[in-house]
Amino acid sequence: MKVEFSAFPRAFSGNLAVFVAADKQLSASAQAVDKTVDGAVARGIGASRFSGAKGQSLTLLGQSGGVVRLTLLGVGKARELDARAAEALGGILAADANAAGQKAVAVAVDAVKGSRLTPGQIAARIALGAQLRNYRFDKYKTKDKPEQKHSLEQITIFVAGPAEARRVHERLAPTIDAVFFARDLVSEPANVLYPAEFARRARDLGKLGVKVEILGEAEMKKLGMNTLLGVGQGSERESQLLVMRWMNGPKNQKPVALIGKGVCFDTGGISLKPAGGMEDMKWDMGGAGAVTGAMRLLAGRKARVNVVGVCALVENMPDGNAQRPGDVVKSMSGQTVEVINTDAEGRLILCDAMWYAQEKYKPQAMVELSTLTGAIIVALGHERAGLFSNNTALSNKLRAAGAGIGEKLWRMPLGPKYDKLIDSDIADMKNVGSGRDGGSITAAQFLQRFVQDGVAWAHIDIAGVAWSSKGDSTTPKGATAYGVRLLDAWIAETYER
Ligand code: BES
Ligand code: MN
Ligand code: ZN
Repeated sequence: MKVEFSAFPRAFSGNLAVFVAADKQLSASAQAVDKTVDGAVARGIGASRFSGAKGQSLTLLGQSGGVVRLTLLGVGKARELDARAAEALGGILAADANAAGQKAVAVAVDAVKGSRLTPGQIAARIALGAQLRNYRFDKYKTKDKPEQKHSLEQITIFVAGPAEARRVHERLAPTIDAVFFARDLVSEPANVLYPAEFARRARDLGKLGVKVEILGEAEMKKLGMNTLLGVGQGSERESQLLVMRWMNGPKNQKPVALIGKGVCFDTGGISLKPAGGMEDMKWDMGGAGAVTGAMRLLAGRKARVNVVGVCALVENMPDGNAQRPGDVVKSMSGQTVEVINTDAEGRLILCDAMWYAQEKYKPQAMVELSTLTGAIIVALGHERAGLFSNNTALSNKLRAAGAGIGEKLWRMPLGPKYDKLIDSDIADMKNVGSGRDGGSITAAQFLQRFVQDGVAWAHIDIAGVAWSSKGDSTTPKGATAYGVRLLDAWIAETYER
């Protein structure tokens, strides 16, 4: 989609959106247009429930004169108009334009007195929101009729000081690239995106200066990564460990480690999942998608930090050679695991990836993302990811970063009583608790047993947020790329200032 920032024109025409603040306060542009459309704005508001509240919109059609299609965008109270709210306005515009089959829209960004944002920042965020919302994974659609395709091709943003808007928007370009990259990875079906193919696509980050290294099964075997290998053992596809390094920070700065669950397809293995909805398990690599997307974003904007991303890429299949319930496996850490349920595979691959990252890179902090448990969806639904951590400062930073860009978190408990639930009779631990109670917590306790002393660690269970069946302001339905912007914002706010 083409984005243009321009000074206000002498007269408006075409498809135009204007701001209306809370309590029907028309912006200067809304007032100006109202005159050219013969008072239709005031009449339209009078004949609807539109009040200018944040997120409302009202489209008035078929005006005579220059502006034919006029959209009133509710910006609410001035202090509510933050970056995220401005992005949502862009999202509304894009969705509305596509629904109406429009190719181009313009929006007049009047100064909003009392907002923390300058008009240039508001303009740039509106563009970003429209672009993020305009994403569509349609590479396998060969028969779409024109009216089924996205129509929106161009957004023009009128703002006093378009140069500032352009500057801010240019800095956001890597965000769009990275989010789309991650959404593509997560959307791809598992016959196309298997571990080696995921790794191949990640190799592309080399162009941005990321050092990409890929370990195969033989190398992992040598390192003793048996819990990871056990999960992939029933698959025809080779398991991979994807290691991405972006070391652009101070020489003496210990790196941050990002770890991602990359189960390219999760059948459950011998503990086979039921057929209904199993196709969803193509996005069981959403954690790895987010980590890889975040690496792309950090490199794309040349972040001044040292970060290493490690993704465990496997396919969990039932097979004559598959791992069995009851098998005992030794992890890279030396701890042994009794595999009670082969469907609790995420923790088995993550514990080796985490151990590898800590042994090799001695990170100061380690944040891991995974579509780990159905239980987190029961607990938190699709609004928030579950956050587990051994460090309150880290938790607070992550929550603040998430709140700022609209990827919300909720901190969940950990503790010795929960930890006890995964003790095994014949090995150091088992991979599930007894019964389903507290299933997300016992999964987190398992992971915590692989955190080395002194490492600030967080586990983010994204099972409920990696995919959206409804979509929202800046995310069409499907892969959300949850985590890409969260990790980037957290790193920017914690290590780059
Ligand atoms: N990938 C699933 C978790 C999941 C479920 C993600 C639904 C997204 C949507 C994970 O590997 C899994 O199967 N977890 C089991 C754990 C159980 C066997 C202890 C679960 O949640 O049922
Ligand atoms: Mn599973
Ligand atoms: Zn899984």
